[in-house]
Amino acid sequence: MAVVHGECDGNDQHCRDKWTHDRRCRNVAPQAGMIVAPKARSGLEFDLHIWASRAAAKVLACLPGDPLKRVIAIYPGTFDPPTNGHLDLIRRGSKIFDELIVALLRNSEKTPLFTHDERFSMLKECVSELANVKVDSFDGLLVDYAMRKGAKAVLRGIRAVSDYEYELQMALMNRKLDPRLETIFMMPAEAYSYLSSRLVREIAMLGGSVHDLVPELVETRLKQKLSPGAGTSKVAQKRR
Ligand code: PNS
Repeated sequence: MAVVHGECDGNDQHCRDKWTHDRRCRNVAPQAGMIVAPKARSGLEFDLHIWASRAAAKVLACLPGDPLKRVIAIYPGTFDPPTNGHLDLIRRGSKIFDELIVALLRNSEKTPLFTHDERFSMLKECVSELANVKVDSFDGLLVDYAMRKGAKAVLRGIRAVSDYEYELQMALMNRKLDPRLETIFMMPAEAYSYLSSRLVREIAMLGGSVHDLVPELVETRLKQKLSPGAGTSKVAQKRR
């Protein structure tokens, strides 16, 4: 039976059944999210179209880039300075999340070696080749920032058992503050399991080599900051 959409007078045989009439004559999709043809030429064609639409909707829903299913994660920290361990974790995170925001805490209780802007620009340079990684800074509670960004997860690294207690406390407290936010722990490569920003600062300040511990650009900035010629260096300040 050939039924042209918009031309049904409601008297055709199939129009006695409302569901069929809706499908064939009014183009009302029986399921939400279905793509409906502007004009259905025949019952068979319309059924085929519905089948194809359902299949397409299923495929679209599974695609990793589906904007409705994007998982944004936050990787927060003080990054003073960013190390190879941080970068290793950022790379791992960028592979499992659609978008990863490296979030630099603006006002930490710690007195940093590098200013906020210096750390921000180092981070930006370090992640420039990772298309789905952004750098941002935040103030206040991490859970509030994560919600503003539409993030579902917080990424944190666990290097050794010693990290676990502090990280667990922070994850559980964040969950108490906002149960919608999950903390995901990842392990950096073994080679970085003993690496920390604090040790990098200490080694660099005492004149040791941090060559394999930080990206090249961070090594250069550390040298610039701590060289005896730099008036603002901590070492220079200590010696005065
Ligand atoms: O690199 P760090 O110093 O281990 O990072 C700690 C950080 C920035 C993740 C943590 O201090 C933090 O989330 N601060 C934001 C303030 C906040 O939300 N505090 C409650 C945490 S339970």
